[in-house]
Amino acid sequence: MDRFDTGFLLGAATAAHQVEGNNTNSDCWAMEQMEHTTFTEPSLDAVDHYHRYCEDIALMADAGLNAYRFSIEWARIEPEEGRFDEKELRHYQDVIRCCQEHGIEPVVTLHHFSSPKWLITKGGWEADTTPDDFARYVRYVIGALGSELRYVCTINEANMGIQVAAIAKRYMIQMQAAQAKSADGSVQVGINLEKMMAGQQAAAEENKRVFGVEKVENFTSMRTPAGDAIVCRAHEAARAVIRELYPDIRVGLTLSLHDIQAAEGGKAAAEKEWEEEFTHYLPYIKEDDFLGVQNYTRSVIGPDGALPAPEDAELTQMNYEFYPQALEHVIRNVAKSFHGELIVTENGIATADDTRRVAFIEEALAGVHRCIRDGLPVRGYFHWSLLDNFEWQKGYSMTFGLIAVDRATQTRHPKESLAFLGSFLR
Ligand code: BGC
Repeated sequence: MDRFDTGFLLGAATAAHQVEGNNTNSDCWAMEQMEHTTFTEPSLDAVDHYHRYCEDIALMADAGLNAYRFSIEWARIEPEEGRFDEKELRHYQDVIRCCQEHGIEPVVTLHHFSSPKWLITKGGWEADTTPDDFARYVRYVIGALGSELRYVCTINEANMGIQVAAIAKRYMIQMQAAQAKSADGSVQVGINLEKMMAGQQAAAEENKRVFGVEKVENFTSMRTPAGDAIVCRAHEAARAVIRELYPDIRVGLTLSLHDIQAAEGGKAAAEKEWEEEFTHYLPYIKEDDFLGVQNYTRSVIGPDGALPAPEDAELTQMNYEFYPQALEHVIRNVAKSFHGELIVTENGIATADDTRRVAFIEEALAGVHRCIRDGLPVRGYFHWSLLDNFEWQKGYSMTFGLIAVDRATQTRHPKESLAFLGSFLR
């Protein structure tokens, strides 16, 4: 087995809202509690990482990992617009200190999907004021914690809203086609359009009550091109602040990247997907020190878009194809046009069978090794995720963790995959 040199960052990743618990001033928390929620369950105490981070960091260190990617929660730091909470800042200072005491490099993400609730009231990730608001929060956090950090990710999966918009568009087209068929009586489909429209109206009214706006533009809502530009400007504004305060910090954002493969007749469509998912961000990230590569599977594109997974494919709990080779392909693809360092900031699999996670890690890391051997500047690998956690709208049923958690007692149960990952460091 090929091992990484000690300078390589080998670790696991989490996001505040998914693990900490009681992120009560965030947009996600509010959405989880609503009557017209799209969440299957609320996050509540999550896996109580807010209080148990030291135990979790120690487990990582014991397994031989040397880095931890986690996020700082904007909604905790700035619960009301312009009011910063020093106590919460000290919390993250303690997390960083705990990492250092365990020989773990802290890699911080400043925004991982959840935002303060007040930001949504101002128009969220479609509002022109958001880049400045984000930059003000970043100044506060980096001003206080920057001296302890070597790597900072500004925004997690800056391209997520665009991906959601594309999926929603595809879904709408399918729905409209089904509706047209049922209207002429030729096909019976279970769509109740009238009820759906009434549901949307009631949801808009609830949004107005909870957020003061009819349409919630949170980070993972369908992004317009204008909103996409706002996300990119927020990244640039954050990078400028970080460079001004601590020029030695290495800064980048992260992108959700599929291994996009063209099936017969799908070359043009595949190129378009890659342009949307990756290439059009290049102008905004070309001055970054690194790019955070986040990959889970491949996407095979036919002439009319993504094809379903092959019939004999092994599917994960998320219904993705088990395809760990995707990571190497994506690293090679981005390295053709992005010339900074590359850090795999997320890669993983939701499965109840940990032996499949072990197999996934083995194959994915073999690909990373081949890239390094070919001279590509891959500086780290963070497995998603350290703990079984709150998988957003899908709740707690998706188990991505290297550590299982019994949420009734919050007891940690490290899986074999944790030690396996740790064994890759020389
Ligand atoms: C996100 C994580 C999420 C993971 C697994 C990534 O898109 O950054 O927050 O849990 O994928 O779905």
